[in-house]
Amino acid sequence: MTTNTASPSPALSGRASVQVQSLSKTFEARGRRVDVFQDLSFDVPDRSFVGVVGPSGCGKSTLLLCLAGLTTPSSGAIIAGGTPVTTPDPQRIGVVFQDPNLLPWLTVEDNVAFPLELKGLGKKERREQAAQFIQLVGLTDFSHAYPHELSGGMRQRVSIARGLVQDPRILLMDEPFAALDEQTRMKMGAEVLRIWEQTHKTVIFVTHNLTEAVFLCDEVVVLSSRPATILERLTIDLPRPRTYDVMATERFGRLRDHIWRMIRDLGTDQER
Ligand SMILES: Nc1ncnc2c1ncn2[C@@H]1O[C@H](COP(=O)(O)OP(=O)(O)OP(=O)(O)O)[C@@H](O)[C@H]1O
Ligand SMILES: [Mg+2]
Repeated sequence: MTTNTASPSPALSGRASVQVQSLSKTFEARGRRVDVFQDLSFDVPDRSFVGVVGPSGCGKSTLLLCLAGLTTPSSGAIIAGGTPVTTPDPQRIGVVFQDPNLLPWLTVEDNVAFPLELKGLGKKERREQAAQFIQLVGLTDFSHAYPHELSGGMRQRVSIARGLVQDPRILLMDEPFAALDEQTRMKMGAEVLRIWEQTHKTVIFVTHNLTEAVFLCDEVVVLSSRPATILERLTIDLPRPRTYDVMATERFGRLRDHIWRMIRDLGTDQER
């Protein structure tokens, strides 16, 4: 089993590498203090696909919000492409949220095109680019539908298209396939891999699904329950490009099982 701890990566100079340095986050509201994670340090090399797994409530979404510049950490720093992350910059760091957060008054097409409008692109170009990503997530027939006319899984696919359309160098994904059925989930995973291989993005991907984590990632960061620390950074040394066949291999099973054994006995927020 190849593992490593929070050691510096040789690829730190990459344009879209991400460095998480001694990051801690505590929420304090109405006299209640929640220590979410403590002293997290890890590097995500340029163009790599890194997964984050850990029990519910351990702070995965909060970590992604910090990485996106949408939440301020209590201490520590995040450096992306050599520059500190302090405010949101969606053209540099894109996010697909756990909750799709679509604008209810806009159609599928306009929701996906919305970030391009902010970017100042013309109407024709916006429509063309949006259509390309709507097709990718299989929703062309629903381009003119409104969010309330879609299923939960379809809304999530719109959110994925909206995250990809901005073409950020760094893409953060928070359980993007959680609301999808198994078949669509597998297809979307393969699609994201294909896009990643073509576009060389740096991807940080939160998931509860260990099969998905091993299938997609170069490395999986395993977090403990709250206050979360890094239990292990596990290198997924399966060859690429990966096809579904890799899931049937003994090596795949061993890697998945290794993560499962690490997290199966950890409590979740619900149990505390
Ligand atoms: N804005 C906030 N104010 C106060 N506490 C918060 C806030 N956001 C998150 N928390 C708390 O931080 C902890 C971590 O929440 P977070 O959503 O990051 O967990 P998670 O690992 O993403 O969980 P899940 O796997 O269920 O999505 C929880 O205890 C949650 O209640
Ligand atoms: Mg979450």
